[in-house]
Amino acid sequence: MSVDQNNDKVAIRGLEGVVAADSSVSYVDGIHGRLLYQGYDINDIAEHMTYSETVFLLWRGRLPTRAEAEAFRSEAVAEMRLPSQVVEMIRLTPPNSHPMGVLRGAVSMLANFDPDAENVSSEANWRKAKRLLAQIPTIIADLHRVRCGLPPLSPDPHFDIPANFLYMLRGTPPDKLEREAMQVLMVLLADHELNASTFTARVIASTLSDMHSALTGALGALKGPLHGGANQRVMEMIQDIPDVETVQAYIAGMLENKKRIMGFGHRVYRTEDPRTQHLRKYSEMLCARSNQQHLHEIAQRVEQTVLEAKGIYPNVDFYSATVQHALGIPPEYFTTVFAAARTAGWVAHIMEQYADNRLIRPTSRYTGEMGLAFVPLRDRVA
Ligand code: COA
Repeated sequence: MSVDQNNDKVAIRGLEGVVAADSSVSYVDGIHGRLLYQGYDINDIAEHMTYSETVFLLWRGRLPTRAEAEAFRSEAVAEMRLPSQVVEMIRLTPPNSHPMGVLRGAVSMLANFDPDAENVSSEANWRKAKRLLAQIPTIIADLHRVRCGLPPLSPDPHFDIPANFLYMLRGTPPDKLEREAMQVLMVLLADHELNASTFTARVIASTLSDMHSALTGALGALKGPLHGGANQRVMEMIQDIPDVETVQAYIAGMLENKKRIMGFGHRVYRTEDPRTQHLRKYSEMLCARSNQQHLHEIAQRVEQTVLEAKGIYPNVDFYSATVQHALGIPPEYFTTVFAAARTAGWVAHIMEQYADNRLIRPTSRYTGEMGLAFVPLRDRVA
């Protein structure tokens, strides 16, 4: 490479605005605050569709019939059991290790027990996808149970995955509002175009590596606080604020110290994220019901304060924190719940990548030295 060739290159920091794939899975219109899954508006999906219907839509590109949605639900729930060795691995993790780290390791380990692990045919990939969609919520629930000294629970074949997740985590069957809230949460988190973890999954798939590897990488990307890791930190912040009256001073202090307010801001949205209104509604209902209205009120005041001070809107992680908290999910598990839901989208993108693959291999602009004189080891001085 000549120096001139290198100088022609311009690195796009954070790949902002770079179009890196053609995709029909979802569409984010950041200016008007719209989100579509396979052409359908997220508001219609959140209000009218079950989680099973939504995953079917993301994976097949069309709405299922009632019979197809029911078949998808029951087949997926039947795959929720884990190999005993994976449960044993979960048991062996140190009690203070982060649940996202355990989940990342467990998904990687699952590949060793999957009958289709190295079979990359489309049929085998769909089988693996359905297993992973079902097994990931079980890993999370089992981890929590084991750490509480409780035995893991088997799924209820009558529930769908979101309701089973709550049941297997807490040990009590969720009521109607809880089932609805868990379902809406997972539906809203199911896909979001070419976010960092989905891009990671597509990069790995583009090497023609396997589905478990792509999901393991996606989990690593989601774990970061600038991506899925924000929801846990949102709850820690809300719990750190003593009351509604303190919010303004608390946020002003953070902004003065140039600290990022977790759960706010987005690379694509320049207006309110359409998912926020749904989560805000469930946060209010669930917090009121569990006598934790103050948490929702603090959250709303934080939203108002940050918007007034910085013109920045909450992202999906903000109210998903109070929703999950009110559902009885501990904050350190919030990002794993995001991962369980986003598995639907990761799979859809991985399959799209396999179907029309070209190795994803960008380039960089070299900023180092050139033409340095080589010094043999014996002549190098400290
Ligand atoms: N709190 C305070 N200021 C924020 C902010 C936040 N959460 N998000 C963005 N900003 C500010 C930045 O400080 C910057 O201001 P400046 O131009 O005066 O320096 C401006 O908004 C643009 O931010 P930038 O970091 O360039 O935007 P980005 O597209 O790279 O960042 C995020 C997007 C999501 C990484 C960023 O908004 C963020 O860190 N949010 C908090 C973490 C989070 O909630 N992540 C979940 C995302 S779904």
